[in-house]
Amino acid sequence: RQTGYTALDYGFVNTAATRSAVTYIDGDQGVLRYRGYPIDQIATNSTYLEVAWLLIYGELPTADQLGEFDERIRRHTLVHEDLKRIFSALPHTAHPMSVLSSAVSALSTYYESETDPNNPEFVELNTIRMLAKLPVIAAYAHKKSIGQAFLYPDNNLGFVDNFLKLNFGVMSEPYEVDPVMSRALERLLILHEDHEQNASTSTVRLVGSTGANQFSSISAGINALYGPLHGGANEAVLEMLGRIRDSGEGVQRFVERVKNKEDGVKLMGFGHRVYKNYDPRAKLVKESADEVLQALGVSDPLLDLAKELEEIALNDDYFRERRLYPNVDFYTGVIYKAMGFPTRMFTVLFAIGRLPGWLAHWREASQDPQAKIGRPQQLYVGAGERNYPGVS
Ligand code: CMC
Repeated sequence: RQTGYTALDYGFVNTAATRSAVTYIDGDQGVLRYRGYPIDQIATNSTYLEVAWLLIYGELPTADQLGEFDERIRRHTLVHEDLKRIFSALPHTAHPMSVLSSAVSALSTYYESETDPNNPEFVELNTIRMLAKLPVIAAYAHKKSIGQAFLYPDNNLGFVDNFLKLNFGVMSEPYEVDPVMSRALERLLILHEDHEQNASTSTVRLVGSTGANQFSSISAGINALYGPLHGGANEAVLEMLGRIRDSGEGVQRFVERVKNKEDGVKLMGFGHRVYKNYDPRAKLVKESADEVLQALGVSDPLLDLAKELEEIALNDDYFRERRLYPNVDFYTGVIYKAMGFPTRMFTVLFAIGRLPGWLAHWREASQDPQAKIGRPQQLYVGAGERNYPGVS
């Protein structure tokens, strides 16, 4: 039998597995801070790479530090030509999240002699490699899914502009980055950069706790993010909105089905383990949804449907009693769609956003002198000892 000290805590609702200095959340007050800085200030004033530096190194970079960081990342954007063959080995129907995690896992094979997690120089180098190559791999997963040729990164462009060109540029045709789209995407990526011990970050830390390298740990994090209860929710929201529109059942009827838990249907993009008041990221995304769609010259009835759904849910006792509010995934999909990303790329965008957080947590855990291999307890509920047939 188990020893007396084991506490049962499904979903780690009450158990802290680590100390962390990266991100602070107060779920009751709707507060989110990266290294002490409030998310609204960061989202308005910062850039993706500046936030990445902040999360990874703990302080905002000086202009020189940021310039050098950016430069190093630009120099590491190429992916090995052989690695590109992994994309042709996978079916064109493959979900880009599976393609992404496979390619990131494979990255580790190209740097096997430089992955020792105890070597600070390698840790630094692989941090840069991951930041530089993930967007390129992500864009190749996109191109693969639509049957277009891969472009080489254009290192004259900044991080987000380069990513947009890799996704939407076509060989032999010039591509002009739309600054509205670029800033809107950068803001969304920033809002996703970290979120303390969520499922994918905890996965990265757990895998890292075994001594696994950054590529393997982050590949595992991508797989954890893929699920519809986590990052996959942004894709699921858009599919849900599309189904409501196409079925003609109406928003009210759909909400009734959610409340009755018919076929386990949920209101995707609603609810959060930590936020029980509102998700400050959702508020910021909602504020920019109208603005971005208008600036991009897109009008989408799904945005109106999402607003109607939110309004009905927020005034319904079922959702009020359970303290369910829109989370970050509720409005992001409508914006990504307006930018031209296919629905199956939405969670990939989340992964690019979350990468700096994963790297920061992997490093924090690997440098923590108190850290141990992650190894949860269980309460055994199976059969007692019994004899194998024929043995007495
Ligand atoms: N629609 C309908 N009912 C819900 C929902 C929802 N989206 N979320 C929670 N509930 C109900 C749940 O059925 C339960 O009801 P009851 O007490 O009658 O059994 C109650 O609310 C408490 O829910 P829970 O499942 O115990 O809450 P949790 O903290 O374990 O789950 C969650 C959090 C995010 C997984 C859940 O709210 C959910 O499944 N939401 C939809 C998926 C989603 O949008 N995920 C994105 C999360 S934010 C971005 C990210 O970090 O990835």
